[in-house]
Amino acid sequence: MKIEFQHEPIDQLASSAVVTYAFEGSPASSGSVERLPAETRTLLQELHSAGELTGKAYECTLIHRPPGMSAAKLLVVGAGKKEKFDGSQKRRVAGTAVRWLRSRGVRELAWVLAGPGSEPDCIQTVVEGAILADYDADRYKTERVGQGAIERLDLALVGPPDEAEVAARDCGRIIAEAQNFTRHLVNEPANQMTPTFLAQQAQVMARRFGLECQVFGPEEIRAMNMAAFWAVAQGSEEPPRLIVVRYTSPGAPEAPTIGLVGKGITFDTGGISIKPSENMHEQKTDMAGGATMLGVMQAIAQLKAQVRVIAIVPATENMPSGKAFKPGDVITSMSGKTIEILNTDAEGRLVLADALTYAKQLGCTVLIDAATLTGAIRTALGDITTGVFGWNKEWVDRVLAAAATAGERMWPLPVDEDYRDHYKSSIADLANTGGRFGGAITAAMFVGEFAGDTPWVHLDIAGTRWSNEEKPYLAKGPTGHGVRTLVQLLMNLGGA
Ligand code: BES
Ligand code: MN
Ligand code: ZN
Repeated sequence: MKIEFQHEPIDQLASSAVVTYAFEGSPASSGSVERLPAETRTLLQELHSAGELTGKAYECTLIHRPPGMSAAKLLVVGAGKKEKFDGSQKRRVAGTAVRWLRSRGVRELAWVLAGPGSEPDCIQTVVEGAILADYDADRYKTERVGQGAIERLDLALVGPPDEAEVAARDCGRIIAEAQNFTRHLVNEPANQMTPTFLAQQAQVMARRFGLECQVFGPEEIRAMNMAAFWAVAQGSEEPPRLIVVRYTSPGAPEAPTIGLVGKGITFDTGGISIKPSENMHEQKTDMAGGATMLGVMQAIAQLKAQVRVIAIVPATENMPSGKAFKPGDVITSMSGKTIEILNTDAEGRLVLADALTYAKQLGCTVLIDAATLTGAIRTALGDITTGVFGWNKEWVDRVLAAAATAGERMWPLPVDEDYRDHYKSSIADLANTGGRFGGAITAAMFVGEFAGDTPWVHLDIAGTRWSNEEKPYLAKGPTGHGVRTLVQLLMNLGGA
């Protein structure tokens, strides 16, 4: 998608479709509709009086040959109630325009920005909405809907763009493309997306954006005493990979070094504690946490955040076999803590345990993990909101603030000493399950045990990683939820 600025009068815009948005109640005279020529607005007023144009959220009204305008088509997208129109809503409205026009063969559009000037962050939001909407998980369809179908997006300003506006456009593109990269990785089926393939994808991305990338195999994982990671990996024919991607900006202060740890289970059968076959195919997405971290790295390398970041992705399948780990096994994790396995399907916390220990060994002073960790988080928050956990209030609050800015729904859940008894073992230091109730909390706390005193925040994205419903502004399938929040967090720490 080519994205350019235009500043000729709206009636002279040459794009195939000019797009404006309008609010509920006064759709002929609100939002960016105000910048249209008078004849067109009169027509819109007539449509409104006839009940056809209401301004309700995501309503699309197409006008052919709009009077007084050069463009062949005018699309008015409903923006809903004016009081509720925030960044998130703007992202969705822009996305709605893209998906609506794209499905009708339109390949270029001009988005009319409201007002005499245009807020830089609003340009970023529109660009994000457009690029995210232009993604479809249709890679394996012979006839593709056409991801990347929109060839050109013009941003119609009142005057020539200033530096901040150009930067906002570039920033929006970088972030949305990174999020789409994450979605692409999550969408890949497990016969393609093996640990080896995920590592190759990380290497290709790292090379392209100037990041350092190291990949370790089975022998190295065992030599580093990552016995918890290895326990999960040992049952699979596919060799595991430990992926480490580093980003250090020249101007970054010594501290903090942020460790981004992403769960990278490329397929989770449950192992010997095997899952029921219904919906097991969903477990191809169990590397979404890892994919999130790779997307974040791709973005910050281009945005040149003034920070030190190390992304660590333990990647493996979780399979049943004659070599698989078993309920009752006791393993000594890299940290030295012993773990009794009560359920081989609670594998995410095992690979995260060793990856967090390793992150601390590499010098990370703040740890953030993202993981499709529990079914319980889906029960609690559905597929709309990511659960946020951590003992360190300052860092939890930073993540929540970044999420609010980035327009991703996240909500804190309690981590309290009183839950610790749930994952006590009678024969080892810890047990790898905490029972049915409060499952998202005990899973999070188990992971947190390996962060120790290091500030740590855990994101359970088992619900939000995937959307089963097609939205007017977003395809059904992988969401890339979490990428924008973490990029925002790192930019808040030291933006360029
Ligand atoms: N990968 C699953 C969690 C999951 C469920 C992700 C649904 C995406 C969709 C995780 O490894 C798991 O199996 N968790 C178990 C833990 C239990 C055995 C303590 C769960 O939540 O049932
Ligand atoms: Mn599992
Ligand atoms: Zn899993």
